[in-house]
Amino acid sequence: KGTASGLRVPSPPMKGLILAGGSGRRLRPLTHTSAKQLVPIANKPILHYVVEDLVGVGVTDLGIIVGDTAAEIRDSVGDGSRWGATVTYIEQSAPLGLAHAVVEAGVFLGDDPFVMYLGDNMFEDSLEAVVEGFAEGGGVSARLLLSRVDDPSSFGVAELGDDGSISQLVEKPENPNSDLALVGVYLFGSAIHEAVRSIQPSARGELEITDAISWLLERGDTVEHHLLDGWWIDTGKKDPLLECNRLVLDDLTADVAGSVDAASVLEGTVRVEAGAEVVGCTLVGPVVVAAGARIEDSRVGPYVSVGADCTITDATVDHSVLMESSRVAGGAHLSDSVLGHHAEVSGGGSASLLLGDHSVVELGESTGGEGV
Ligand code: DAU
Repeated sequence: KGTASGLRVPSPPMKGLILAGGSGRRLRPLTHTSAKQLVPIANKPILHYVVEDLVGVGVTDLGIIVGDTAAEIRDSVGDGSRWGATVTYIEQSAPLGLAHAVVEAGVFLGDDPFVMYLGDNMFEDSLEAVVEGFAEGGGVSARLLLSRVDDPSSFGVAELGDDGSISQLVEKPENPNSDLALVGVYLFGSAIHEAVRSIQPSARGELEITDAISWLLERGDTVEHHLLDGWWIDTGKKDPLLECNRLVLDDLTADVAGSVDAASVLEGTVRVEAGAEVVGCTLVGPVVVAAGARIEDSRVGPYVSVGADCTITDATVDHSVLMESSRVAGGAHLSDSVLGHHAEVSGGGSASLLLGDHSVVELGESTGGEGV
């Protein structure tokens, strides 16, 4: 089915279930105060990329699972109308697992086919090939997305049989028998509802979606899979988050709408938004500088996202994400760092930091290496 805009709408329409609850344990201290799904990548929250991906394939009836950070997520996404979507917020009673989230979304989902999208995952490519034809029936209970990874033990892992179909699924195995990870987008028909109600909590106390899909497989249901071509990142830890920032900034388009003085040098792809100010600096792209930011006498880049209202003065920053209103000053050299809102770093040392909102760090000359 086509639309006036040429967008292909799945038929019958699928719903979208975005998981933005959970505890964000692996990004603490950043996630003590803010949602991991709202960390900005190239100055746009991860969750906004997720909504855009779903709307991009005609999935506009969206349910968002929220937990402790519900208020912040509602503030950021709103009613979805800015993307032409409608959003229903579903408060998960506790972060008891991905399958538990499906149980609690039962009323919203009804018997409709749906795309479940983990709110901290990002993809290079559109979901078009993934959703193609799924909702048209054919008795398929689930379609999974798989990607080859170096360290399968941090993911759900799929093993394929001789005929190329999925023979087994294991959640975070210690000794994986395959390098095929389960990626954070799943397509389900209504059979999943019986499965999520039939499984028991895992050793980590969660109702695992991996176990629910295994239950379908054991019952003899059809579970398809699709091997992903482009990059995929589960941004739930600092290093993948920074890698994601790098990959997205690689596609940045240059645009200098803010003010850059004559003494500054811009190399490579640099975007300075209207209302940002750059004075006496070298910016080495890709670099994006949001409105209200001020960078003075500093060297910034490559691969840096500078959030709104940040200040960088007399400092060097590369391969980093600076969230709104954070400050770096006084000769500091930051690499591979993520600074939370209003975090402050000063002093003449070098460091790689993951800082929560409002943290204050003073670097001495001898400070170095990793810090949190
Ligand atoms: O990223 C892909 C991996 O995602 C898969 O390979 C695994 O099989 C799957 O279990 C999942 O593993 P994670 O341990 O990375 O899931 P995480 O706890 O990070 O949760 C994923 C998203 O779902 C995240 O945005 C938080 C949200 N969530 C999580 C839980 C446990 C909820 O909304 N509710 C929950 O109860």
